[in-house]
Amino acid sequence: MASIHDTMLMPEIRHTELFIGGRWTPASNGKTFPTINPATEEVLAEVAEGTEEDIDSAVRAARDAFEDGPWPRMDARDRGRLMHRLCDLMEEESEELAMLETLDNGKPIRDSRTLDVPGAIETLRYYAGYADKIHGQTIPVRGNRLTYTRREPVGVVGQIIPWNFPLLMLAWKWGPALAAGCTLVLKPAEQTPLTALHMADLAQRAGFPDGVINVVPGDGPTTGAALVRHPGVDKIAFTGEYKTAQIIMREAAPTLKRMTFELGGKSPNIIFSDADLDAAVPAAHHGLYFNQGQCCTAGSRLFVQDRVYDAVVERLAEHNRSYKVGDPLDPQTQQGPQVDKAQFDKVMHYIDLGKEEGAQCVTGGNRVGQCGYFVEPTLFAEVTDRMAIAKDEIFGPVLSVLRFSDLDEIARRANNTFYGLAAAVWTRDIRKAHYLANKLRAGTVWINCYHVYDPAAPFGGFKMSGIGRELGEEGLAHYTETKTVTVDLG
Ligand code: NAI
Ligand code: MG
Repeated sequence: MASIHDTMLMPEIRHTELFIGGRWTPASNGKTFPTINPATEEVLAEVAEGTEEDIDSAVRAARDAFEDGPWPRMDARDRGRLMHRLCDLMEEESEELAMLETLDNGKPIRDSRTLDVPGAIETLRYYAGYADKIHGQTIPVRGNRLTYTRREPVGVVGQIIPWNFPLLMLAWKWGPALAAGCTLVLKPAEQTPLTALHMADLAQRAGFPDGVINVVPGDGPTTGAALVRHPGVDKIAFTGEYKTAQIIMREAAPTLKRMTFELGGKSPNIIFSDADLDAAVPAAHHGLYFNQGQCCTAGSRLFVQDRVYDAVVERLAEHNRSYKVGDPLDPQTQQGPQVDKAQFDKVMHYIDLGKEEGAQCVTGGNRVGQCGYFVEPTLFAEVTDRMAIAKDEIFGPVLSVLRFSDLDEIARRANNTFYGLAAAVWTRDIRKAHYLANKLRAGTVWINCYHVYDPAAPFGGFKMSGIGRELGEEGLAHYTETKTVTVDLG
């Protein structure tokens, strides 16, 4: 039987080396690491693994480009034009980018095509438009003086991104950095380096000066840590696990780098009995199962009010029974494999814990097939606040449904977590909605919707879910330093 793959054009993997100072080079010690297709467990490519020496070369290239290159001195409008040119090339090669993302990460091709690639382009274009609109203020001060501020690029930025949205996270990091006139060294996740390398190629073809963009794949505790410690880096922007952020904070302390963190969550999604269930249930489903459950904002604590609890659980179970899990290259597929063996094992461990702790496993609970890291969409009902599946970030297709009865109880329980990334409320009562919007300790609150993002809307976490914001004007501000200039006119 012909497989779906026979009819698809497989992209050529053109770049597997480090991109430093505008040149492709192997690692200084020649080392490589395999990047795996999680749907087949096959090696897609051997990729150069950046050493401390390579990180040093990349930071020097970025530093030279920042201090002496054309980039920070170029007209801001021309920087924006280059960013738009990069987006034009992404549009021309969008199918190739989508395929690479799906092969490397395992996400369904329909998501790569309709969300990851267009979302990355939209983010970069949003910030391209900002390049010539970054300005300071004139400030009335005492005496006959002129005081004004300039917003200058923060300098050389080290960017460390995860594997769940490789291209989108790259765009969230490159957009504000490039618009502000910074130069950068990106370390993609070891699970998913391929689209970042392709982007380096596109940036070079778009005409970015050498050294502005450097991409150094490698492991976290070696390659990533070298970037964090390097004294030539002014700022670290990180997305990933809070435990990694704690290490980064410690390692960056001696050089007092600026830092922004976008970390995980255990986001409450609250459905009141007066909600429009026809909208709330599909959104709650998507809120957790989208991207194999590998979203920092996954609505993984679904609180449902007593009166509609059983109905909501039943409708979610129906969704799961018809959810298409399988080959991510098949355009019909809704759920692909987890990104790697480690994540697969973590998810299966939490499923076992849920069963042991007495939650009711309504659907799923098992591996799918024998090859690839596929997990059945798993639904636990009768989950209580103290269970591990209600407290820890699972990062997989495992939804916990909890019961609640009244408004004050739910506000307290929803906030009873050290995370604070996102939250959602479903109700037809506008007072209840805004009461909770104010009360919930989370960087994003959705009312009667879920997973809504926009490049213009600031995104980030309260508490252990992060420091600083990405996207919007606030995201840009984290890539600039304010300089105050005072002239004596007297
Ligand atoms: P991680 O935080 O270890 O990895 C994210 C990035 O940090 C990768 O590029 C990695 O190479 C790098 N890194 C790791 N250790 C480092 C170090 N010591 N210094 C510098 N860079 C370092 O996350 P991991 O291990 O891939 O996933 C573990 C869990 O973290 C997941 O199960 C999930 O719960 C959470 N996570 C949350 C994400 C989010 O979007 N907030 C994304 C990825 C993971
Ligand atoms: Mg890790």
